[in-house]
This record gives sequence, C-alpha cells and structure tokens, in this order.
Amino acid sequence: MPTTAIVLAAGEGTRMKSKHPKVMHKLLDRPLVRWAVDSVRKAGAERVVVVVGKGADEVRAELADIPGLEFVEQKERLGTGHAVRCVRDALGAFEGPVVVTYGDSPLVRPETIKALIDANVSAHNACTVLTMTPPDPTGYGRIIQENGQVTAIVEEKDCTPEQRAITECNSGVYCFCGRRLSENLDKIGNDNANGEYYLTDMVGIYHQMGEPVAAQHCDDYTELLGVNSRTQLADATKLMQRRINERLMSEGVTMLDPSLVWVGPDVTVGQDTTLLPMTMLYGKTTVGEDCVIGPNSRLTNATVGNGCTVDETVIVESEIDDDVNCGPRAYLRGHTHLLKGAKAGTHVELKNSVVGEGSKVPHLSYIGDTQMGAGVNIGGGSITCNYDGVHKNHTTIGDGAFIGSDTMMVAPVNIGAGAITGASSCITGDVPADALAIERSKQANIEGYAAKRRERLGIKPRK
Ligand code: UD1
Ligand code: CA
Repeated sequence: MPTTAIVLAAGEGTRMKSKHPKVMHKLLDRPLVRWAVDSVRKAGAERVVVVVGKGADEVRAELADIPGLEFVEQKERLGTGHAVRCVRDALGAFEGPVVVTYGDSPLVRPETIKALIDANVSAHNACTVLTMTPPDPTGYGRIIQENGQVTAIVEEKDCTPEQRAITECNSGVYCFCGRRLSENLDKIGNDNANGEYYLTDMVGIYHQMGEPVAAQHCDDYTELLGVNSRTQLADATKLMQRRINERLMSEGVTMLDPSLVWVGPDVTVGQDTTLLPMTMLYGKTTVGEDCVIGPNSRLTNATVGNGCTVDETVIVESEIDDDVNCGPRAYLRGHTHLLKGAKAGTHVELKNSVVGEGSKVPHLSYIGDTQMGAGVNIGGGSITCNYDGVHKNHTTIGDGAFIGSDTMMVAPVNIGAGAITGASSCITGDVPADALAIERSKQANIEGYAAKRRERLGIKPRK
C-alpha cells in the first residue's frame, strides 16, 4: 500500500510578523515548506499532499517544479485536524499509511520518518506519534501515557499543572493507518482553549475506542524544533548549518570557521577543498577537489572544477573548469563558462560568455555575450558593448588575440585569432586574424605648455 504524506502548511504564522506565509521563510537557501516536502519524499512517501492556506499561490509557485505534488486548499484555518479533514474531503478516503508533518518543522530527518512509518505498519497501530523531550517544552503538546499506550496529547494551553510538568512532547510528526484515520476524523471537536479542531485529539479518540496508539521517541529533539518565530528560524538555520558542515568536514572539507560557512543541502564539495569565512554555497552547486573558496563568496548553481581559487567572488548559474582562478571580486553569471586554467580577475564581470583555455580577463572588465578562444589576453578596463538599448549583441574573440587595455568592442563584432587591438581603441568593425586594429587620434606634445600655464596661474614652479 503506497504511503501518503500530508504536509500542513496553511497556518497564518502570526508569530513571524510577516506579510508572507510562515512556510515561505527561508532556512539557508530554501523555504521551510520545501525542507518539509523533501523530508517526506526522501522517507519514501509515494504521494505527497501539501495543505495550503495563507499565501497559497506563493507556496504553490515555490513548489511548482516538484513533479506529482498535490495541493489542497484549506480556506478557513480551523486547526490541524480540520486541515487533514480537508485533504480527505478533497481527495477521498485514505488507504495505506498516512504520514502527517508540519511545514514549519524543517529539520526532521527522512530516516526518522521512515522508521516511524515502519513502526506503525509493523505494529498495526492506529497511530504512532513521534515524540521528543526538548530542554524547554513551552508551547508543545504533552504526551500522556498509560501502560505503554499513548492515551492523549494535550496542548499546553489546555494542560493541568500536572500535565504541563510532563517533559515528553508531541513533535508534530505522526504515522496513521489511513483507513482508521478516514473513518474517525469527524469525531474531532473544537472544545479547547483555541476553539480549533486539533489533529492531536485523534489520539484520545483512538484510546476511547481501544485502538492502539504508540509513541516513538526521537532522542535528538533538535530534529523536531518547530519554527514559529524569527528567533526559532535563526536557531533552526544554525542547527541545519552545523549538520551540513559537520558532514562535509567528515568527508574531507576544511573550514576555517564552520559557523561562517553556509552550504545548502544539495551542494557537493570535493576532498581537500577549503571553505573560508563568509562563504555561501547554494542551489545545485558542485565544487571539486583542492579548491579554495572564499572569503566573502557566494556560489549559486555553480559548477567548480578541481584546483580552483574563488576569492571574494559571486558565481551564479555558471561553470569554471579545473585550475581556474577568480577574483578577488569577480562576478560570473548567466551561463558563463571558464575553461581550464582561465582567469577572471579583479572587478571583472562575465555574463553569458565562454572564456577559452588559459585565457585571462585580469582587471576591471565587462565581458558579455562573448565567445572567446584559448590563450586570449584582455587588457584592463576592456568592455564588450553588447547592449544597444534593444538587443544583446554577440562578440567573438579568436585564439591568442591580444586586446589592449581599455578596448571597447562594440558588438556585434568579431576579432580574429592572433589579432591585436591598440589600447583605448573603440572597435566597431571586424578585425581580421593577425591584424592590428587601432582606433585613436594621434598624440600631440606641446613643448613647455605645462610650465607656462603654472606661471600664468601663479603656481609655484617645479623644483
Ligand atoms: C502543534 C501541535 C503540538 C506540537 C507542535 C509541534 C496541534 C494541535 N498541536 O502545535 O502538539 O507539539 O505542533 O511543533 O497540532 N496548520 C494548518 N492549518 C491549520 C492550523 C495549522 O495547515 O488550520 C499548519 C501550520 O501551518 C503549521 C502546522 O500546521 O505548519 C502546525 O500548526 P501550529 O499552529 O504551528 O501548531 P503548534 O501550536 O506549533
Ligand atoms: Ca508550530
């Protein structure tokens, strides 16, 4: 029987004090809801349903790239139990195991969810609740047990003082038997401090019916921290940062200070690479071996070969091959590709360009929409004038060309292999291979002019 996962993400998130739905707030580079969806998918759920409410369109758009995801809109937020009922009413009675998780709990490990499903299925329980013992249980539902059975979950607001003293709490992750959940969901009432339909009441209802409910304790409570406020978002981010960085270090990556390196979950970093402070590696970035990345670098969907240095540089949707040096202060974007041994130096921006093997763009240049061959040198201050206000135009620069400093290449334009451009030339026409193109007026020296001018203006003569 296929497993269904329901991710509840309709809540208002009042405590976030935000214009956006809570689950759209980012932990590292991705919204909370994406972490929650990823966890249940990795745990093996065949069918994933996201319950959306506040900011439904924003949440749907964020998750649009995930194939097969289903959405159910909970128009009125009447509680977690009501949210699950909306799913049943929209999609029909559940069959097989049903995992429920909350979109504001991004740290749950897929293995933990998988073990919970296995436990519920093998014990034929109506429900297995994942529980935790956090150092501060404030705000969490308490687990009431008798003879190894969970008899109720009581929300903090509804607890007696004795119940409030219980330290085992509801994590908000459950595995239900789908059939029994469908049949009994309507028994949930809203007679509680918040006037909401609580999913947690299913536990007490099952106990009344004599249906077995078990608790599965998760020893690492940090997996189950919920994000209800910006402070908790920062705490959760720190925990995830540490989890990812510890994994990378165990795989042979050096970090000068792991608290100052932020790496997304889909990033790979090769052995003996060093990540320096204030470095962010996001999206589907891959970094090879023996690189030094940072300080102050941000790579998003970047591919970095082996033996590269990336110093104070931003790389977005771009690729650098082995032994490429970037920075300090380069910006590579828009499907730029630097081939082996190429260089993008200081205050250099490269957009949608290919820089051939061993070619160098060392200082203060903008190169856009350009196909550059191997062994090219671009003199400092050179610019491809690719935009005429309407279209982006293309430049080609052949192998071994030498572009003089401050050359303007007005695209569309082709510079042949081995050609030279004179410093400060504005190149508006194609340059044949091996030619020199020079476009500047002749220099005139007016003897003694500067000295006479000083005299005229009463400036002290030069010693
Ligand atoms: C909930 C649990 C509590 C548990 C805690 C763990 C209930 C009643 N209480 O409390 O026992 O210890 O999580 O973090 O379930 N949501 C909807 N629709 C609604 C209401 C909520 O989709 O009508 C979603 C929210 O977006 C959120 C999740 O359900 O992602 C949990 O709701 P929240 O209000 O944060 O519950 P807690 O008070 O944290
Ligand atoms: Ca919560």
